Amino acid sequence: MFEKEMEGLRKNGLLREVRDRAGRQGPSIFVDGKNLVNFSSNDYLGLAANSALIEAAAAAAQKCGAGAGAARLLSGGSGLHGELERKAASFTGCDAALLFNSGYHANTGSIPALAGPDCTIFSDELNHASIIDGCRLSRARTVIYRHADPAHLEELLVSERPKSERALVVTESVFSMDGGIAPLDRILDLSARHGASLYVDDAHALGVLGEGKGSLAHFGLDRENKKRNSKTSEPAVMQMCTFSKALGSYGAFVAAPKEIIDWLRNTARTFIFSTALPPSVVGASLAAMDILDSGEGRSLVEKLRANIEAIHEGLAAAGLEGFSALLSPIVPVLLGGVEETMNASRRLLEAGFYVPAIRPPTVKRPRLRLQVTAAHCGVDIGALLAALKSMKIPS
Ligand SMILES: Cc1ncc(COP(=O)(O)O)c(C=O)c1O
Repeated sequence: MFEKEMEGLRKNGLLREVRDRAGRQGPSIFVDGKNLVNFSSNDYLGLAANSALIEAAAAAAQKCGAGAGAARLLSGGSGLHGELERKAASFTGCDAALLFNSGYHANTGSIPALAGPDCTIFSDELNHASIIDGCRLSRARTVIYRHADPAHLEELLVSERPKSERALVVTESVFSMDGGIAPLDRILDLSARHGASLYVDDAHALGVLGEGKGSLAHFGLDRENKKRNSKTSEPAVMQMCTFSKALGSYGAFVAAPKEIIDWLRNTARTFIFSTALPPSVVGASLAAMDILDSGEGRSLVEKLRANIEAIHEGLAAAGLEGFSALLSPIVPVLLGGVEETMNASRRLLEAGFYVPAIRPPTVKRPRLRLQVTAAHCGVDIGALLAALKSMKIPS
């Protein structure tokens, strides 16, 4: 079964294989018996191996057990789950938050709950697979607007939306494959003017933008968001954040006005029909939120910012243009086709750097995707730039 299809993937250089790491996630990792500088992690603040998270995970498991045992609406919730929701809501400046088992669960559960067949969804063309799947599951009509293009979004909000229908605009804030940042100020303004709700996927922005609070704070929209959300008759703003990236743990939450969170708790199928997160994971996320909301967290966010600047400046100086936004830790480098990109990734691996190639169908144009974190030091970044330069990779 599938031999022909698998052979097709192999022939086109698109076969995917899992490479297991030995030891912890961090700025250097041990893969296939080799120590590598890791530029392929969403662990933007270097918290995945932080001892406070590990100790909190162990303590939560001791106190509440290894598994949750059931969904939250049955007996699966612990006091820790509720505490994490309250912390997430207050940190993002929202009324309330609801935990999901992952960002994938959050998007595939919330979007169908917010947008049924009587709604039109307006979705950025580069949105993540979990958003695309959420839109498909919703059975709402989905209209795709050009990437990060508010003018096109506005055109479609006018031409493609039957007057009586509800509308939901869905976008990532920091795009996971390109590192671009959506113009949320304009998108929020447009959605408000056209009576559409806005769902922002902040998976790569929490802990990164807006002094760690995410994209709405970055654009100065968090207060605006609160004001707008306090008038419950108006369409709302929802912020989906993950604990699995900058927070170094696992799981996700949607922060929104209380009435929306109450609705999601009652209708989001991935929340209702899936076993709750294990207490250890919730304990680690609580410890990560405590760090993010402290002086230590603010220093990590600043260190990340400095490293982002260093990699962008270094690439420009080496004549290797990464094309993402200057504030983004995700820096794609385009080198041509699948073969050139795979070769470059292989050569970097031989030189001691883990920078996987991202290929179709994940992206249309193959690329090396560099991800910089607060845990990298200047030497790591300098060595990667020197390796890229010495390989004479064209920009
Ligand atoms: C933009 C975006 N949204 C959602 C997700 C899914 O998050 P999780 O890994 O927690 O399922 C990802 C993860 O890759 C992502 O990049």
